[in-house]
Amino acid sequence: MIYLDSAATTLQKPAAVAASAAWAVGHLASPGRGGHKPAMAAAETAFACREAAARLFHVDDPEQVVFTFNATHGLNIAIKTLARPGSRVVISGWEHNAVTRPLHALDVDLRVARGGLFDQEAVLKDFRRELNRGADLVVCTHVSNVFGFILPIEDIAALCRERGVPLIVDASQSAGVLPLDFQALGAAFAAMPGHKGLYGPQGTGLLLCGVDPAPLLEGGTGSESKRQAMPDFLPDRLEAGTYNITGIAGLLEGLRFLQRRGLERVAAGESQLIRHMGEGLTAIPGAEAFLAADPSVQTGVLSFRLRGQDCEDVGEALGEQGIALRAGLHCAPLAHESGGTLDTGTVRASVSVFNTDREISQFLRAVREIARPRT
Ligand code: ALA
Repeated sequence: MIYLDSAATTLQKPAAVAASAAWAVGHLASPGRGGHKPAMAAAETAFACREAAARLFHVDDPEQVVFTFNATHGLNIAIKTLARPGSRVVISGWEHNAVTRPLHALDVDLRVARGGLFDQEAVLKDFRRELNRGADLVVCTHVSNVFGFILPIEDIAALCRERGVPLIVDASQSAGVLPLDFQALGAAFAAMPGHKGLYGPQGTGLLLCGVDPAPLLEGGTGSESKRQAMPDFLPDRLEAGTYNITGIAGLLEGLRFLQRRGLERVAAGESQLIRHMGEGLTAIPGAEAFLAADPSVQTGVLSFRLRGQDCEDVGEALGEQGIALRAGLHCAPLAHESGGTLDTGTVRASVSVFNTDREISQFLRAVREIARPRT
């Protein structure tokens, strides 16, 4: 199988991820739930994971790194801390339902800074215009999960800082690929999954906290047990209930892998594969590939369509040839609307550090075959 669905979840992981998660079953108990050896070992693993994430994302204190089940969980905490019904919230035109659905549920006054696909200047201009009209909150993805479009998050963060507007960053597609300096951004929160570019197992996620959060869940934390209110301090304030310590043990190895490899090398490798793929697709009659003219504004995600063919059918046909990717709307109808693909959806191919040029060539051969007009 050729796996090209890393924007959904990375399937191939560094070997140490599975080994460590498997070892954790039977060796690690619950952090903060006892002074015995397996509980202490679990606490050390959890802290090492917070430390590794704090280093990678430039977070002052590892205790500002909170474990979540996924990015959606972190985004819900962040959004429900900072938005109220009627709040004026500015988002980009490239957001996922993990952002838009919680905002819809809160019935906020939603403003979209759309810009144009692969046009960072236009996005920035729209953010500036919306922020000049006044905003209570900005929520913005770093990279579109549909098109791999890199948003100018540093510039958007600067606009927010100048105006004192809190910023929530959805780093779902950028974490582990692009540098993210949480301190320098001055963001209120950044949410990310553990199971995509950080190469951890599913069921892991991180929320970086720059402001006091409101708990989404209440329950046991192993601290201040006599008190009925949740602890005031992080990470306990947000971490009710037993940890996914097996997942966290795996995630720690994913973070160590990235630290050794370096994000620059990860991003350069993904970009090269996407250029190969995009240029190959563009040469296929009837294929339309959403490839940025400027490679510096696209990560390892590429959408495409074949003229006259249903995207879901193309995805299925590729699946039958052993190529795993995702077709449809990718839980991001707003991004498809902004990209002009809401009516059709797209077929999306996305890579990780484990893909090769040879696989991309095989993928292109398969697409060429499917695109060939039938007589
Ligand atoms: N958000 C994930 C994706 O883009 C699941 O496929």
